[in-house]
Amino acid sequence: MDYYAVKAKKDHYPARSVYKLEEVQEKYRLLRPGDAVLDIGSFPGSWSLFAGVVVGEKGLVVGVDLQQGSQAPRPGSAPLYWLRFDIRDPDVLMAIKKIRPAFKVILCDIAPKTTGNRWTDAQQSLRLVRTSLDLAQTLLLPGGNYLTKIFQGEDVPALLEQLRRAFALVKVLKPRSSRIESREIFILAMDYRGGKIITPEDDAPPDKAGNRTGIAEAIPDDTQ
Ligand SMILES: C[S@@+](CC[C@H](N)C(=O)[O-])C[C@H]1O[C@@H](n2cnc3c(N)ncnc32)[C@H](O)[C@@H]1O
Repeated sequence: MDYYAVKAKKDHYPARSVYKLEEVQEKYRLLRPGDAVLDIGSFPGSWSLFAGVVVGEKGLVVGVDLQQGSQAPRPGSAPLYWLRFDIRDPDVLMAIKKIRPAFKVILCDIAPKTTGNRWTDAQQSLRLVRTSLDLAQTLLLPGGNYLTKIFQGEDVPALLEQLRRAFALVKVLKPRSSRIESREIFILAMDYRGGKIITPEDDAPPDKAGNRTGIAEAIPDDTQ
């Protein structure tokens, strides 16, 4: 077991991934007391447990995953609601809205089943992230924050450009606790301006050069 896995056991978190969120929270304060938080791809529940304590009793956390969550909130935590859904299921929106119609923060640590093929895995990760953004355009409050994991791939720069249109601040992060060999990176988008995040043009097929928006750039490295 590595350092973070041992620490997660000691801190009674079901997954070591909690320290990635903790690190982003320490630096950017994306979660605030009283916030309503939607946690997409929440199982086994570490991010939701952590978020629940940060937002406190006046906040609320809804976790959605293919697998049924069951973690009990910690003392002083917001209530935790667990929904078992595939986020691609059109009924998920109504199920979330029944609990809370809008959220201050949307977290997305969703991960597809990896195939070992880098291109396929990156495409599947991107598709799930875009589905989470479809939900965000309906559920995220103006001024709200969005954090997602995504596997590095050629379409990430175009995604960043879309996020920059919709949010005041967009950062690419590689937390220390994310394994160096892992192709995952995190995108933090803060202060949502409201409105569409993914426009119909973004869904248009790529041009001959493979670009959707004509933007080609290296992923900025915010990890130093
Ligand atoms: C890395 S885990 C999340 C860990 C979690 N953040 C934590 O701290 O405990 C990724 C999760 O994404 C979920 N997932 C993958 N595809 C999904 C989908 N289509 N709909 C909902 N959840 C999905 C998986 O079931 C898995 O539990």
